[in-house]
Amino acid sequence: METVEEITVGKVITCKAAVAWEPKGKFIVQDVQVDPPLAMEVRIKVTHTSLCRSDLFFWTNEALGHTFPRIFGHEAAGIVESVGEGIDDLKPGDHVLPVFTGECKECKYCASPKTNLCSKFGTESLATGMKGDGKSRFSVNGKPVSRFLGSTFSEYTVVEYPYVVKINPVAPLDKVCLLGCGVTAGIGAVRRIAQLEPGATIAVFGLGTVGLSVVKEAQRRGASRIIGVDININKAAEGNFFGVTDFFNPDNLDKPVEEVIKELTGGGVDYAFECVGNPKVMATAFASCQDGWGTTIVLGVAGPATVSIPTRSLLTGRCMKGTLYGGYKPKTDVPALVEQYLHKDFDVEEFITHNLPFSRINDAFKLLQAGECLRTVLHYNETVN
Ligand code: APR
Ligand code: ZN
Ligand code: ZN
Repeated sequence: METVEEITVGKVITCKAAVAWEPKGKFIVQDVQVDPPLAMEVRIKVTHTSLCRSDLFFWTNEALGHTFPRIFGHEAAGIVESVGEGIDDLKPGDHVLPVFTGECKECKYCASPKTNLCSKFGTESLATGMKGDGKSRFSVNGKPVSRFLGSTFSEYTVVEYPYVVKINPVAPLDKVCLLGCGVTAGIGAVRRIAQLEPGATIAVFGLGTVGLSVVKEAQRRGASRIIGVDININKAAEGNFFGVTDFFNPDNLDKPVEEVIKELTGGGVDYAFECVGNPKVMATAFASCQDGWGTTIVLGVAGPATVSIPTRSLLTGRCMKGTLYGGYKPKTDVPALVEQYLHKDFDVEEFITHNLPFSRINDAFKLLQAGECLRTVLHYNETVN
């Protein structure tokens, strides 16, 4: 089992991180300084991090006005190096997932079984610094470097306690890192948000890791028809491998894909999942649903964009809802999800198409931008091939 060096506790750690100095700029793998955790904060030695499309979205989207330099990354696994004051159920050596949506267990949302939002520790950790004092724990030679969610493109990171999920130490960290975002989002969307029943028909728009995770879970739950829609033609074969029964590339059709789906299903699918992050695709997903009960579930992240849907379809019983992290409460639900993975209730290996040493992060982003990978896992232990 991997261990942490106790000699670093309470000290600034200098370690490798991939720093984005400007939007779309190359990631520079360089030494950064990581401060010790303050009260109710946790410093984590990140062992593995995978790349998610949201990292790409926020890194490349200048309109969102994020500050740079910045350390991205939010789908990861690691080991607690040290904890700040006030934390009594986490200790150095514990295996954890740093997650992007927190759970304080006290607020109105945390008290409700209807949501996994948290009003105190939500995704506003998109901010530059920590909640306590507003400062980042990262710096380069004294110059502050902003955080982004868990900032896991760094060998060490500091996050607030509500964003840390303790997991079974038996779980392989190079695999369960995927449960920090995309795969969990897909599984939860099917189980918790759709509550998909056997025999249901579905359409999945966007067959990346998130979409294929929806496909796989729908197949496990006995969906009768799983329609995959993607503009990347290579996704036809890949989708088929994961359980897609009918594939469409909208660019190759002579009529709108929603019409094709309606014809194929005799009126529309029971559930449509948007796994792209495009408001137009969200509207198409909605249009592909059955009147009376068709439900569109949005998983794609599109920032502040708005979506346009006909109100008449709401009156005729369709609905559109969305979910972050599959509706799972991180501390309450995710350790059990890790156990289910260990019991082989579901797989994550099939989503890992590439493993690379952390120093090759720029190559990993090229793969993601070119649509040539599902998940690439970056290993901080550079001996990986
Ligand atoms: N119509 C259909 N498919 C599309 C379209 C489109 N207009 N545009 C892109 N796609 C496809 C891509 O070809 C790709 O296969 O959507 C897929 C997206 O997959 P990934 O890039 O691997 O993204 P993923 O990590 O699965 O995330 C999907 O969920 O969590 C959010 O931020 C994430 O918004 C993103 C979405
Ligand atoms: Zn993500
Ligand atoms: Zn809360």
